[in-house]
Amino acid sequence: MPTTAATAADRLPSNASLSEALEAARAHYSAANPASLALHARAEKSLPGGNTRTVLFYGPFPLRFAGGDGCHLTDVDGHGYVDFLAEYTAGMFGHSHPVIRRAIERALDFGVNIGGHTEHEVLLAEAVTARFPSMERVRFTNSGTEGNLMAISLARAFTKRSKVLVFTGGYHGGVLYFRKGGSPVNVPFPMLVARYNDIESVRALAQPNANDLACIIVEPMFGSTGCVPAAPEFLAGLRQIADETGALLIFDEVMTSRLAPGGLQSVIGVKPDLTTLGKYVGGGMSFGAFGGRADVMALFDPARPDGLPHAGTFNNNTLTMSAGLAALTEVATPEAVTQVNARGDRLRETLNGIARKGGARMQFTGRGSMMAVHFRDGTIRDEVDADQGNQDLKELFFFDLLDRGVYMARRGMIVLSLVQDEAAFARLEGAVEDFVRLRARFLA
Ligand SMILES: Cc1ncc(COP(=O)(O)O)c(C=O)c1O
Repeated sequence: MPTTAATAADRLPSNASLSEALEAARAHYSAANPASLALHARAEKSLPGGNTRTVLFYGPFPLRFAGGDGCHLTDVDGHGYVDFLAEYTAGMFGHSHPVIRRAIERALDFGVNIGGHTEHEVLLAEAVTARFPSMERVRFTNSGTEGNLMAISLARAFTKRSKVLVFTGGYHGGVLYFRKGGSPVNVPFPMLVARYNDIESVRALAQPNANDLACIIVEPMFGSTGCVPAAPEFLAGLRQIADETGALLIFDEVMTSRLAPGGLQSVIGVKPDLTTLGKYVGGGMSFGAFGGRADVMALFDPARPDGLPHAGTFNNNTLTMSAGLAALTEVATPEAVTQVNARGDRLRETLNGIARKGGARMQFTGRGSMMAVHFRDGTIRDEVDADQGNQDLKELFFFDLLDRGVYMARRGMIVLSLVQDEAAFARLEGAVEDFVRLRARFLA
């Protein structure tokens, strides 16, 4: 890989079924990637399933990479790809952006593992609170998951209530996973699980639990579950229900904060009590944050006799603080964020146009710089709708695009970075055109 989509597709008899086409694509992939296969076999001896990050796994075995540069990746078999995964939105700057690299070098010169306060966390906190005004105060964590755990725990402590309202299909981290009925390794908070974009389902759960509802946590657009935007009136309805019940409204903007300079909340016009961040805001280093109303966040003031503990060895590590500051103030500037999202909107229109022109039953949902492919018609409003798309076609799409030198998420997500050039977009558009043409009989 990459060869061409035609190699995998054209070897098939014209009457091959979708499952035969998929088998052939998997076989082609396996044959083309012996070094990835060998490394996977070696990894299995020290990592369960050869894996330490579930989302990266797919069968027959995942690619392993030799490195990245700008918007390009090279796998261990020497194939080159344009990177349209962008580290699931964290890789907004491409690989080793020079400005961020310099910031990290300055942090190395300053010293890592200082074990004390520095100016670094003040500068990043100032940049974050300026950029996301509903975050009057912020605290840093090491991941988005941790940011969400802290925000939910804070809401429970602040309201002195226990229950947490979430959504089927919502994803807030490895222990806050509400896809496909939830996960056995979820944290044991008492959860009420409503339907996304269905305000009546929220009301039906919130009202009988009004006295014990601590918070509602929601992604303003589903990220992992197929880039499904929440309707603005749904988010406004959540605000109203939170106000009526005295619960806090938490926006998980770990992914969606990249969709506008002030996050998706600034576009929707709904102000949450708390917001969580992660991904690109740390400039590509390990990062998470939670913040919001000053009166709520004040519970973490350690000078207060009743101050809540929030430790974390790496919360203010100089590498992340420096990379994040450079990212927010020098690279992902408001202008750059606006531009990349406008480019994403144009790309999504182009891809949907290719599907329409080819008469293909497929669509790209999302907003700005995040999108996902679905192999079905009609409006997609929640997890049930998203899961109704043909999943075999999604896998075939993934392998065909890999074959054309386009790397994206196996689950169908495509993400823009600030460094993809027009050649990268042309490669992606060409690959989608080929897919629609060569796989037409499966898409009718
Ligand atoms: C919406 C959302 N929340 C939280 C997380 C968890 O962030 P992290 O992987 O940094 O723990 C993710 C990760 O993909 C996410 O998409």
